[in-house]
Amino acid sequence: MGTMSLGKLGLRKKIPNLSREEFKELTDFVYEKTGIAIPERRKYLVENKLGKRVLELKMNSFSDYIKYLKFSPQKESEFKKLCELITINETSFFRDIKQLTMFKNTILPEILEKKKQQGKKTIRIWSAGCSSGEEPYTLSMILHEALKVSIIGWDIKITANDISPSVLFRAKKGLYNDHSLRTTPDNMKSKYFIKEATGYRVHPKVQKLVSFQLINLNDDLAVKRIPPSDIIFCRNVIIYFDDEMKKKVLNHFYNNLMDHGYLFLGYSESIHRLTKLFKPVFKPGGIVYQKN
Ligand SMILES: C[S@@+](CC[C@H](N)C(=O)[O-])C[C@H]1O[C@@H](n2cnc3c(N)ncnc32)[C@H](O)[C@@H]1O
Repeated sequence: MGTMSLGKLGLRKKIPNLSREEFKELTDFVYEKTGIAIPERRKYLVENKLGKRVLELKMNSFSDYIKYLKFSPQKESEFKKLCELITINETSFFRDIKQLTMFKNTILPEILEKKKQQGKKTIRIWSAGCSSGEEPYTLSMILHEALKVSIIGWDIKITANDISPSVLFRAKKGLYNDHSLRTTPDNMKSKYFIKEATGYRVHPKVQKLVSFQLINLNDDLAVKRIPPSDIIFCRNVIIYFDDEMKKKVLNHFYNNLMDHGYLFLGYSESIHRLTKLFKPVFKPGGIVYQKN
């Protein structure tokens, strides 16, 4: 009997207790695989979220679940499930509008000018940790705004990836609710979304520039396959990593970026004490990091 029907009968099975040792083993596993460092203060949340999964699998303890994650024939698919449960996927279209305006008004024109001088008409953007797609689609909309009809002469690719299969499924679908559009200016809403009975669909011309892939930023080989980028957006992602993982990811970004390419991080994320690979560039609207 599933937990739902047990619940309906008032017989909801109790989530097993997560001991300190189990919490450590679980968080070590998560860290080793994803770089996500789960602090002690989130133990209760982990117990709650993964506990439901333990019950769903009809297991009696977290130790059974850990064994299942590590050694069972289903370990790969369970790892994907685990990623869905432990990640925080909070996002919205046009999130941090000040930073995006700075991108549109200063960094993008500089890149377009450089390309013009090089006689190239390609732009490559990487949205690392894209969640359900709001960020890469926003970048596509900004490119449409900046280039207008001349966009047809450009070869633009926005590579977007995440570790959670369920957010990528939603991203590929491209259908959103009001909550996802809560920070979207009205004129962008009317220009780049098609209202449908069940929500707002991202316009196909916006979708066309973006491709989604399931990639773990802790997977060196997978990351190396991302095409070299002019600009990387990795906002509100490294906040979940410890310093070692942050450095590793910053190295990946450094290797991926083209010369003098730019890295955009989240509002509260700073990297100056971690690396000398990037220099902070102060612009009205925020800081952007440039490859040294
Ligand atoms: C809070 S969301 C940020 C989404 C978007 N960048 C934004 O700022 O609105 C963080 C995303 O990073 C993803 N993530 C966390 N660790 C990751 C990893 N090791 N590899 C790839 N994606 C990861 C999570 O699944 C989540 O969707």
